[in-house]
Amino acid sequence: LVLILDYGSQYTHLITRRIRSLSVFSLCINGTSSLDSIIELNPRVIILSGGPHSVHADGAPCFPSGFIEYVESQGIHVLGICYGLQLLVQKLGGVVKIGEKHEYGRMEIEVQKNTGLFGNKQVGDKQVVWMSHGDEAVKLPEGFEVVARSNQGAVAAIENRERRFYGLQYHPEVTHSIEGMETLRHFLFDICGVTAGWNMEDVLEEEIKVIKAMVGPEDHVICALSGGVDSTVAATVVHKAIGDRLHCVFVDNGLLRYKERERVMATFESDLHLPVTCVDATEEFLSKLKGVTEPEMKRKIIGKEFINIFDIFAHDLEKKVGKKPTYLVQGTLYPDVIESCPPPGSGRTHSHTIKSHHNVGGLPKDMKLKLIEPLKLLFKDEVRALGKIMNIPVAFLSRHPFPGPGLAVRIPGDVTAGNSLDILRQVDEIFIQSIKDAGIYDEIWQAFAVFLPVKTVGVQGDQRTHSHAVALRAVTSQDGMTADWYYFDFKFLDDVSRKICNSVRGVNRVLLDITSKPPSTIEWE
Ligand code: XMP
Repeated sequence: LVLILDYGSQYTHLITRRIRSLSVFSLCINGTSSLDSIIELNPRVIILSGGPHSVHADGAPCFPSGFIEYVESQGIHVLGICYGLQLLVQKLGGVVKIGEKHEYGRMEIEVQKNTGLFGNKQVGDKQVVWMSHGDEAVKLPEGFEVVARSNQGAVAAIENRERRFYGLQYHPEVTHSIEGMETLRHFLFDICGVTAGWNMEDVLEEEIKVIKAMVGPEDHVICALSGGVDSTVAATVVHKAIGDRLHCVFVDNGLLRYKERERVMATFESDLHLPVTCVDATEEFLSKLKGVTEPEMKRKIIGKEFINIFDIFAHDLEKKVGKKPTYLVQGTLYPDVIESCPPPGSGRTHSHTIKSHHNVGGLPKDMKLKLIEPLKLLFKDEVRALGKIMNIPVAFLSRHPFPGPGLAVRIPGDVTAGNSLDILRQVDEIFIQSIKDAGIYDEIWQAFAVFLPVKTVGVQGDQRTHSHAVALRAVTSQDGMTADWYYFDFKFLDDVSRKICNSVRGVNRVLLDITSKPPSTIEWE
């Protein structure tokens, strides 16, 4: 295990990902974690991340006392990056000078010694790196030497090979540091002697073992499947571990896309053989949404109704198997876990909270279920890789995200008015199918149609029409937090618009949403 102690750099998670991409398992924990929690993880290598603080600031985050003695007694290699380097220098008896101003960006460094960190280079070799330069190490602790300097003479890399301490003043994990990955690889494999071998097959095997040991032979486990990637992969892992003591529910709330229920149920049943109950709750949801136009109210009603349905499902199950379910499966991912354990100095609390906007819209409070979160150490692309080795169809794994409240947030106003849901489903299907046919589905984070409660005048087949306008939205994004609209080519848009007006009754106008997030959100409500 390569353990990363996080001191709040925006790049910390990138370090974790880069190391995992070398097939080496890495985990990131708060940089001020106790010595016991570090010892418990039994790391082979420890990386101290960068961070926004000065080591001289009041309350500057630091590793726990006894850390240096521990790593030296265990022969653990330690690499400090940026703030991490300065921490090492200061705590081992060197001097860090407060910088007048912070300088960020591209810089050239030159190798001074081809030992340790640059043992695979020549003295005098130059490379471009991404520096985040605030405070500066002006006097190194005894036994340390400078092995690279910036072209302005500042310390760029240091090491004490005998005591296994290394430091980089720049960020090797960002792609702007051209040879950064090579340096990380050299450090891990050649200096620390780490061997690559972490892969999804091992992750799956380990997860199955853990779940088998955790869930007793009489215990029953429930899971709400949303039709999304995370809950499906999580349920499939648990099913492999405990078989049909897993009980899944998929709720058709009447707000699903064109043939969504048939399509996802076919994947659950035929491809994955998951024990899943499909509950048709269209009537329950739509009757409660009738006449409601306020967006937050719509979301609340939907969330509450999900809880009702889930509650009924759990009680029915109790009657059937004669025992209350003990565990609940959730598709929580690693970024959710990290988000809820924020770095020191960020002013947020460290408690592990489950995201309140989870797909099922919250869970019954009185159920007292224990959680199984088989994906909680994985990033999204790793979840897809895990899904792939369990034979979940690739087309399913690469599906765009779909919000829990479904089409309700894509129909401003009353979703039950007229045949808006039906029209929206048809328009959305044409749009998505055209995107797939054009081979651009995977370039887009999310694409969908929006039904507008607005009628405009048109002329179709020599007849005047007074019909609805619809909008098309497609965005690119890394994580859904910010997004840009997708630049379609005009010919594509022309074809889609024509197809929609020609084949969907009740639509005579097609608009394109060209707003980024911010200022808009991705969904319309
Ligand atoms: P917004 O509209 O907030 O959406 O820019 C960001 C991402 O989150 C999805 N989304 C939801 N997902 N339950 C979910 O599971 C919800 O209530 C919900 N609301 C928005 C949205 O589709 C986009 O991917």
